[in-house]
Amino acid sequence: MIRIEDKLGRRFEKLRISLLNSCNFSCVYCVSEDFGNIQPETTFKPIAEEQLSIEDFTRLINGVHRLSGLKSIRLTGGEPLLFRNLIPLIQQIQKIGIPDIRLTTNAYYLKESAKRLFEAGLTSVNISVDAIDLYVFNKISRHPNTSRVFQGIEAAINAGLNVKLNAVIMRGKNDSQIIPLLDYATVKGVKIRFLELMKMGHLYHAENGLFFSEKEILSIIQKKYGIERIQREFASTANYWRTSGGGTFGIIANESTPFCHDCNRLRMDSNGYFYGCLSNSHGEKLSPYLHNDFLLAEKLKELLLLKQPVKFHGSELSMRNIGG
Ligand code: 5AD
Ligand code: SF4
Repeated sequence: MIRIEDKLGRRFEKLRISLLNSCNFSCVYCVSEDFGNIQPETTFKPIAEEQLSIEDFTRLINGVHRLSGLKSIRLTGGEPLLFRNLIPLIQQIQKIGIPDIRLTTNAYYLKESAKRLFEAGLTSVNISVDAIDLYVFNKISRHPNTSRVFQGIEAAINAGLNVKLNAVIMRGKNDSQIIPLLDYATVKGVKIRFLELMKMGHLYHAENGLFFSEKEILSIIQKKYGIERIQREFASTANYWRTSGGGTFGIIANESTPFCHDCNRLRMDSNGYFYGCLSNSHGEKLSPYLHNDFLLAEKLKELLLLKQPVKFHGSELSMRNIGG
């Protein structure tokens, strides 16, 4: 196998695919304010233009896997549960031989689909849940019915999926929700990760008054619980702690504790463009090189060189386009 590795020993072992760039939520950190207020569900139409077909996705995944030996795939969006061929795609990925297939979702449609996804071969889901208080959660997601997210979480746990929760913490918006979220996750027996706000999309050039640091998150938790640090796993985006209350939480602190040095992620957007690093907003198509492994490897090496040495500095892309 041609070795695709950079000077820091970084390789592509995880592929994140944004299946589509539309979403039924409009989270304030992802979609700019002028998008409008709470969007009634009836006005939402899934968009499917310029979408890659399931065969296109499979061919691209296969090509990258052949050269990089992928250990896992994460399917994201936008909202991946809006992708109509999700179940067949998961079955195809399993056939390619990639053992770990994960999903990042807002869980709105998970109640109906969790069991079928598990049966198709999905191993785990990351669910975004930014508040326990529904008034707060509706305001952040700009969706009137976030209570369905909690039904989705229940369904995922019952289906046998490995479940993790993600909460982006913003000053004055949901910093009051850190303890309620942690306690909810502990009762459910799942891990929760608190995320520092990242300068992406419409936040790239904005004054970041909403930023809430790792240190501040820890200090809120320590007012209620004793905490003990857990050894960080290789290429993990989060650092984890155990609490005296029997829970486990992580913090993804892109600003305070950057994690670029052992990043093993490659990203692909819904139009087939690949990104070696979140900080690079110009993707590269790999489809023209699929027939020639030498050229494909050269392109993958170029993408690897785009990784930041230490820290992510922001991007014009939003998670909706590039996937979390
Ligand atoms: N900063 C931090 N996290 C973000 N997410 C989306 N946009 C941002 C941002 N600007 C999170 C979502 C989801 C994951 C895919 O990324 O909440 O959990
Ligand atoms: Fe949708 Fe995720 Fe963006 Fe929220 S963060 S609007 S759930 S894509």
